[in-house]
Amino acid sequence: MDILIVGGAGYIGSVTNHLLLEQGFQTTVLDNLSRGHLASVPKGSSFIEGDFSDPDLLKEMFASKKFDAVMHFAALSLVGESVSNPLLYYKNNVANTIVLFNEMEKAGIENFIFSSTAAVYGNPHKVPIEESHPIQPINPYGWSKSMVEQVLRDAIPTKKIRYVSLRYFNAAGALPDGSLGEHHEQETHLIPLVLQTLLDPKSDRILKVFGTDYGTPDGTCIRDYIHVLDLAEAHILGLKYLQNGGQSDIFNLGNGKGFSVREVIETAEKVTGKKVPFEETDRRPGDPPVLVANSTKINQVLKWKPKFPELGSIIETAWKWHSLNPNGYSN
Ligand code: UFG
Repeated sequence: MDILIVGGAGYIGSVTNHLLLEQGFQTTVLDNLSRGHLASVPKGSSFIEGDFSDPDLLKEMFASKKFDAVMHFAALSLVGESVSNPLLYYKNNVANTIVLFNEMEKAGIENFIFSSTAAVYGNPHKVPIEESHPIQPINPYGWSKSMVEQVLRDAIPTKKIRYVSLRYFNAAGALPDGSLGEHHEQETHLIPLVLQTLLDPKSDRILKVFGTDYGTPDGTCIRDYIHVLDLAEAHILGLKYLQNGGQSDIFNLGNGKGFSVREVIETAEKVTGKKVPFEETDRRPGDPPVLVANSTKINQVLKWKPKFPELGSIIETAWKWHSLNPNGYSN
């Protein structure tokens, strides 16, 4: 089975590619390398450098190979950036994805796995969050993902695209052997930032804890961290589900356990045996106080079960990756 991985040189796409190859799939990565890394594309995979917004390139690719499914990871995903540059987000995450749908439809490619996000829920009024929770994003990033979900929902009656949309909570961790992991030029995520402060003992890097006055037990924000391999596995289960005739659907993807920023710091200290230097600062705009998934639906329908349900083991794999690759990928 041949799978096209759009944005497969990014963090979650590259780990999913690794797992697909391990499970005997054939894969092709399409990535413009604007934020991805060629070094993260496994050797067994074909690679095309290009943009998924280019209909001619897509036509050419779809004419030369019959893909059984498309997995789409090529989104911009920084909340703050989406607020300062909303048009970039709507163009890349929405308009370009419609170009992809058009070309998939013309080529008769039906199966689609979509990377959605917990950001579609905005400030949830009930946690753990179920899929039926109202869609009420509070930033253009969340809106862009919910708009694509709406396009997909509207496409169901045409029967031209069948999809699984996975609403990720907080992706973290790395392959346990430290060979693939998280490398963003502009790192904003908590776990990599915590670990990076520990890597160079002479550096004066200090972690900023954004907000200590939330209505949570220790005042800091609570998130549901999920290992990147468990995310990857869910994509493959979603793919098999569609191949077996499953109906298009949307699933939350988290461990169902929330950890505060302080608890993440404490766990990182236990895993690494080092003290994390941090300072308490103002809230970061746009951060909901608590995001925790109810993932019962994906457990039941796709039989997904996390292999790394513990925060400590998630951080352990991330620590190995960062220790082995303090500067991330070399290209
Ligand atoms: N945090 C800090 N200091 C930092 C970085 C983060 O205190 O230096 C805090 C944040 O304020 C937040 C928590 O750590 O409370 C987690 O922040 P991340 O940036 O790691 O992750 P987010 O929860 O902001 O982002 C995730 C996904 C996004 C998604 C968003 C929805 O990565 O794609 O949830 O809110 F849009």
